[in-house]
Amino acid sequence: MALIHDINKLSDQTNETAVLFKNIPDTLSLEGVKKKDGRKLVESDLSLLKNQYALIKSGRLLWYGSEKKWDEVSQEYSNAQKIEDKKADFQTLMPGFVECHTHLVYAGNRQSEFELREQGLSYQEIGQQGGGIRSTVQKTREASFDSLVQSAEARLKVLQSQGVVHCEIKSGYGLDFKSEKKILEVIKKLETMTTTSTYLGLHSQNPDSSNLQECVDKVLSHDLEELNKLKLFDRVDIFVEKNFFTNDQFKKLIESLKKDSIPFCVHSDQLNENRTSALACELGAQSVDHAVHLSDSCVENIAKSNTTAVLLPGADFYLKEVYPNARRLIDAGARVALATDHNPGTSPFLNINWIGLLARLEMKMTLPEVIAAYTYNSARALGLDHDYGNLQSGAYVQTQTKEWLELFCGD
Ligand code: NIG
Ligand code: FE
Repeated sequence: MALIHDINKLSDQTNETAVLFKNIPDTLSLEGVKKKDGRKLVESDLSLLKNQYALIKSGRLLWYGSEKKWDEVSQEYSNAQKIEDKKADFQTLMPGFVECHTHLVYAGNRQSEFELREQGLSYQEIGQQGGGIRSTVQKTREASFDSLVQSAEARLKVLQSQGVVHCEIKSGYGLDFKSEKKILEVIKKLETMTTTSTYLGLHSQNPDSSNLQECVDKVLSHDLEELNKLKLFDRVDIFVEKNFFTNDQFKKLIESLKKDSIPFCVHSDQLNENRTSALACELGAQSVDHAVHLSDSCVENIAKSNTTAVLLPGADFYLKEVYPNARRLIDAGARVALATDHNPGTSPFLNINWIGLLARLEMKMTLPEVIAAYTYNSARALGLDHDYGNLQSGAYVQTQTKEWLELFCGD
């Protein structure tokens, strides 16, 4: 059953005609979510409006409001473009979903590790034996540019079919300059939807380097600057964890981003409590991602900061780890977003409805919290709150049929 309308069909492809939908049963403007900065949300913050009119062009909202208001502004809009009336054969108009954490460009799969994990080996042990991130690095280095574009577009289409309008994608399966550059160029080439490109050169030890510090030195003395000159990324990420990178190395990386004001996020406190999330808030990260093992003071730090906590329950499920304590974060006042963390090793999932369900069933998030976590809050995590995650003029929207809520979060 199709839950979502093809967003491109919401308007004429000639780009000249806009479509006016009349009497849309439900419009979720998320006005309240925005007013509350995505924090401590209740159902009324979704700001449900009945029987709205909406003018949409190429998947973007030009205008919405009541029938009476339309009568007042219709002349102005029809002077500017051709308008076609259409019956609203959907239930809900709302901001498109924003997927704010993926590792979507890679080759191969990690099925053999599934068996090893079933035999009791941990994610880190598999990594130390040459599996894990490194095995995907080898496959991705070998893969052609075109094949990487093709597989990434196919994955984006799966997200798009669920209402996702923007996707963040990290590099990190190249680890040397040439291969990281290739991956970032692949991201730039993708056309299915708009993307945020995140440079994750410090994802793991480059197999050609003798130690982690050598990787940091190489990235800081050369790779970062060269890739930045080529404008190949929008922001930077790093994996801070035992046997991966340290808080000190994270700090050095962030210092080197300062002069160009490059935004950053961090894989923090995923498998152990490293206090990286607290440090990241202090340094001004856009988001702390995973954020599973947090002390009370760390939760307070996140709640008081402008940093979004991006929770990734797909990875916790797949690694049979504990889920992040979403309630503790939300009740303390943190802005919480959700994402798939799609990658071949720890979260090979692309179903955002299922992520929403996990968040509700295993992390006790409420329905409005989940909807905001995949729209306004995930847009905020990427610093994209103008055209995404709200219903301002120009925003990317989606429409869903009556059944979507039953599947999205089980309501
Ligand atoms: O977000 N934690 C680090 N990076 C990914 C896993 C990548 C991999 O195992 O291939 C994550 O879980
Ligand atoms: Fe990740």
